[in-house]
Amino acid sequence: MRFRRAQSRRSAERYSALKGIQDILPPDIYIWQRVEETAREIFSAYGFQELRAPIIEATEIFIRSIGETTDIVEKEMYTFSDKAGRSITLRPEGTAPVVRCYVENHLYNLPSPQKFFYSGPMFRYERPQAGRFRQFFQIGVEAFGTSDPKLDAEIFSMLRLFIERLGLKGLNFEVNSIGCEKCRPDYRKALLNFFSGRINGLCPDCKRRYEYNPLRILDCKVDVCIELRKGAPRVMDFLCNECREHFNALLSLLKLLNVPYVINPDMVRGLDYYTRTTFEVTSEQLGAQNAVAAGGRYDRLVEEFGGPPTPAIGFAIGMERLVALLRTPTLNQVQGELRTPAPEIFIATIGAPAEKEGLVIANRLREKGIWVEVGYAGNSLKSQLRRADRLSAGYVLIIGDDEISSGKLKWKRLSDGSQGEILFQEVYDFFFKNLRLIQS
Ligand code: HAM
Repeated sequence: MRFRRAQSRRSAERYSALKGIQDILPPDIYIWQRVEETAREIFSAYGFQELRAPIIEATEIFIRSIGETTDIVEKEMYTFSDKAGRSITLRPEGTAPVVRCYVENHLYNLPSPQKFFYSGPMFRYERPQAGRFRQFFQIGVEAFGTSDPKLDAEIFSMLRLFIERLGLKGLNFEVNSIGCEKCRPDYRKALLNFFSGRINGLCPDCKRRYEYNPLRILDCKVDVCIELRKGAPRVMDFLCNECREHFNALLSLLKLLNVPYVINPDMVRGLDYYTRTTFEVTSEQLGAQNAVAAGGRYDRLVEEFGGPPTPAIGFAIGMERLVALLRTPTLNQVQGELRTPAPEIFIATIGAPAEKEGLVIANRLREKGIWVEVGYAGNSLKSQLRRADRLSAGYVLIIGDDEISSGKLKWKRLSDGSQGEILFQEVYDFFFKNLRLIQS
């Protein structure tokens, strides 16, 4: 018997999570929850409502929106055929599914702007490294229905407030404008011109990109391409009047709202759907994968998906990177506040009648929302107290035969060792009126 159990334990240990995919456990989960609660609170104040789109979509949705020649579509999607032979993809990002949902559900018929937030796992088959995973979580927002730069500025200030509320410091807000379908053709021409004498040196992917989408060369991670694109024309210098006005208006609104920013004219986002405003929130503490959040306008995408012309803007926060920053004590103030929760009461019992009595008391207290733990499987008092200690329980209640016959149970507060006795029937009042007050 013992042999069989040992063997099955060994085979269970052979299983591990897939490469680049991680478990999220306590106590880390409390940082995650804190981030999610903060996002919900702040995004709601700006009028964003939660939307839950599916994790899988028809592959076409991502190809059409993110772009055929992007790294995500070319190399990183988890794509498979379902049993009916349809091509399905695990979402590599959240914008395309939300746009699909917006169009499919005719949400454009509701008063504009419509503002949504979402959170959940995304999947990209990237080479895992610090801050880069194959399953990662995003909290994202998308707002539809106005091209007013006020909306861009509001979204920026919301993101800044969110980061500040979490106590994070030293993040950079980088902003750029990458123009629209009016100014893009001239820029494209300038890029083709610039790279025409350099084609032979480009990586095979970029040779192809030169033909189909030269802007993507600016996003290539291969060293030779990074070298060859030095001195390439910048999109900022090709903006049409409307795009320039939009950008200038955004910058003055950011000043008005005290959102510190830096213009990064070299910022190229890795997705094709962007128009005009693009931005990234970066941290020097994160190493190579330094973007904690990123986003921008995508004024043409709703139309591409069959909806009416509807300008839109959004961003997504990378949860793992944000949590990594929150875990770095020098960078933040929340660390101290993020204590691992502990049971308020541990009920230690001696003997079968006391065990039953303890279970009834535990249940009554739990009904009132108090976290109560009990001892199990006839463990000795000593081992139950050890467990209470390891759990950092607030109070221990001890019930044995003596307590049952006297009608009184013993309590002990573990933080200072104070103790006393209370009648069984007073236990609820005692915890509500006295101990809860003492704790708060
Ligand atoms: P993105 O820049 O691809 O944009 O991703 C946004 C954020 O997700 C990144 O800044 C990063 O923090 C996190 N992230 C991306 N890939 C990984 C990864 N492999 N491992 C860990 N974290 C990662 C988008 O996804 C757009 N949908 C954002 C958006 C929303 N634009 C408009 N609306």
